[in-house]
Amino acid sequence: MKKLYHLCAALAFSCLIINVASAQEDVIDKKVDSVMAKMTLAEKIGQMNQYNGDWEATGPVTKDVGNKLDEIRQGRVGAVLNIMGTNHVKTFQDAAMQSRLKIPLLFGQDVIHGYRITFPIPLAEACSWDVDMIEKSERVAATEASASGINWTFSPMVDIARDPRWGRVMEGAGEDPYLGSLIAAARVRGFQGRGLGNTDAVMACAKHFAAYGAAIGGRDYNSVDMSLHTLWQYYLPPFKAAADAGVATFMNSFNDLNGTPATASIYLQREVLKRDWNFKGFVVSDWGSIGEMINHGYAKDNYEAAQQAVSAGNDMDMESRSYINNLEKLVKDQKVSFSLIDDAVARILRKKFEMGLFDDPYRFINPQREKSSLNLPASQDVARDMAHKSIVLLKNDKQLLPLSDNLKTVALIGPLVKAKKELKGFWSLDIDPNENIPSVMDALQKQHPQTQFLFSYGCNIDDQSKAGFADAVATAKKAGVVVMVMGEAPDMTGEAKSKSNIHLPGVQEELIKEIVATGKPVVVIMMAGRPMVFNWTADNVPSILYAWWLGSQGGNAIADVLYGAYNPSGKLPITFPRTEGQIPIYYNHLNTGRPASGDKDVFYKSAYIDLPNSPQYAFGHGLSYTTFQYIDDDTYYTKTTLKDNDVLNISFTLKNTGNYAGEETVQLYIRDMVSQPLRPVKELKDFKKVFLQPGESRRVTFSVNRDMLMFYDDNLKLITQPGDFQVMIGSASDDIRIKRAFELTN
Ligand code: NOJ
Repeated sequence: MKKLYHLCAALAFSCLIINVASAQEDVIDKKVDSVMAKMTLAEKIGQMNQYNGDWEATGPVTKDVGNKLDEIRQGRVGAVLNIMGTNHVKTFQDAAMQSRLKIPLLFGQDVIHGYRITFPIPLAEACSWDVDMIEKSERVAATEASASGINWTFSPMVDIARDPRWGRVMEGAGEDPYLGSLIAAARVRGFQGRGLGNTDAVMACAKHFAAYGAAIGGRDYNSVDMSLHTLWQYYLPPFKAAADAGVATFMNSFNDLNGTPATASIYLQREVLKRDWNFKGFVVSDWGSIGEMINHGYAKDNYEAAQQAVSAGNDMDMESRSYINNLEKLVKDQKVSFSLIDDAVARILRKKFEMGLFDDPYRFINPQREKSSLNLPASQDVARDMAHKSIVLLKNDKQLLPLSDNLKTVALIGPLVKAKKELKGFWSLDIDPNENIPSVMDALQKQHPQTQFLFSYGCNIDDQSKAGFADAVATAKKAGVVVMVMGEAPDMTGEAKSKSNIHLPGVQEELIKEIVATGKPVVVIMMAGRPMVFNWTADNVPSILYAWWLGSQGGNAIADVLYGAYNPSGKLPITFPRTEGQIPIYYNHLNTGRPASGDKDVFYKSAYIDLPNSPQYAFGHGLSYTTFQYIDDDTYYTKTTLKDNDVLNISFTLKNTGNYAGEETVQLYIRDMVSQPLRPVKELKDFKKVFLQPGESRRVTFSVNRDMLMFYDDNLKLITQPGDFQVMIGSASDDIRIKRAFELTN
């Protein structure tokens, strides 16, 4: 009875919430209608137009744009991007307030990994598999950005990427749709905080819709050729997760998908996003992507491109000026209906109302708040913790790490030992010229004043000179341990930074060989925005840390990890290939009719005859200074069938068998043994992060349910098929410790 009462109360409460939310929506819709009733067609089209400010362009800027502030005063602009700082933002909003209807501007910005404080690049943060922490990191970014007048970020990038040649792999969460979906939703929650009505919230933007990460050959902006099944099964889930998390906006993408530019895709924008997913926000084009349809050969001119884009559901034009120059004529020529324009404008205005901008267009413009909100010590602490969790220990033979405090002399060698601003990586907003970011060397010297840290540069990042080798070798010989800080340059990943050769650049690996030849114990730290290839190092250097670009606190975080103040816990969200020829290589592949059973099994098998079948480092890989034992003592596992809404509980004991406290990310994979269409050899379906003291044990329980077994059939319907399944629990996709079989029955 009591239970029934609680159930009724809960139901009544959720009905109340739904009613309040839809009442609020009605109120906003009425306000939108009343503004739209006063708008001329030209003013409506103005709302659909977005201009770059004058800070930095991330694409070709249309020449001869006249005076942007005048255009804003004429009501010809709905949003701007790249306007930095409240003073500057105010100048633009003042201009909007001089327009006839005083419709406030939106201020957009690529807040990709932090605003004033730079956080690790998104791919690095994804190594944490810590969605709460990622949400927190975006919360800091949103708090800072909104204090500077920004109310819209073009983030998160939720593109699945299986190709590390693609420079933008750094901006996403890697190759897995399940992990990618959790992270996408966390980032949206982080940016949008308690809701769009709050002044510390910025509107998020799920991008790039869709399949941009699958550019052929990993070459940025390239075409994508993909079955709809693959699109739905692997590439769309993070977008759906962002939509379900309430993301305010979507951005379409530069690529064509199966012959149709995403910008003109009715299927993606109108049918999938707005109809099937019931998305109420608006879609912005990517930079100039409407105009670029002329280059694609899809539109003859901007007139035709504007018609195609607006018909497809692209609501706002970023920087191509196709809408502002053509939509009015298109309407007059009856090529575009009034209702298409009204739908787009209503979506944009609705967000402006939800942001509270009609009540107070200056609510994000508070110089006092800007002063007191940026670069706070508490935020730097979050950045340092996020950086800790982003580092992946790839290898630690002979337990060389953590380093001992008793070491008298440590040699620091390599082109990135003294890197400071470089630690921020690509897509960082360089807004403080005086920012002093501690390098790895600075941090180590500060933390260990009793140790002598010797330095030798060794070589540059990317040239052939070995002039520094002799000094590096001599320096190594003077030390007890050598720490080498190697990697790419920060501008080797990011937009338009695709590479055909992703080996550790220049002569760096040759330098590593020479240093290892001294016989000194060597630790290598790799900094990069993508998985690199460094096979000799992987085979011959005992300890390797992958540190990506960790941001403002990168130097401190690396020093913390080197000496064990933080025990590394990161796990790779993307596969590291042995060489470029293996790409695309990803863990959740199909089995083929001739699967290789191991690295050497190449006789008429799905394999390369000149390369092991396995990657260099697998999805989910990442070590700790301690060791974890998975004890298969499940006495509760009685069911071997799963029916209807049942759950299958699988438990085991996880024990910290090493000498350090540490966190394990226990991963659960499932394989559908027989299915039509085919299912992958394994798919991540759940994971748990477990922190244990040395010697401590904990029971870990996973619950497998029917939802986890769903997949898209040939008609793109989500289904389950009865039959045999395998559950795999382990420390990485290639390190499975516990297996279970069960049957799904109808
Ligand atoms: C182009 C990029 O593809 C997109 O991700 C970014 O948000 C815009 N430029 C604006 O800078």
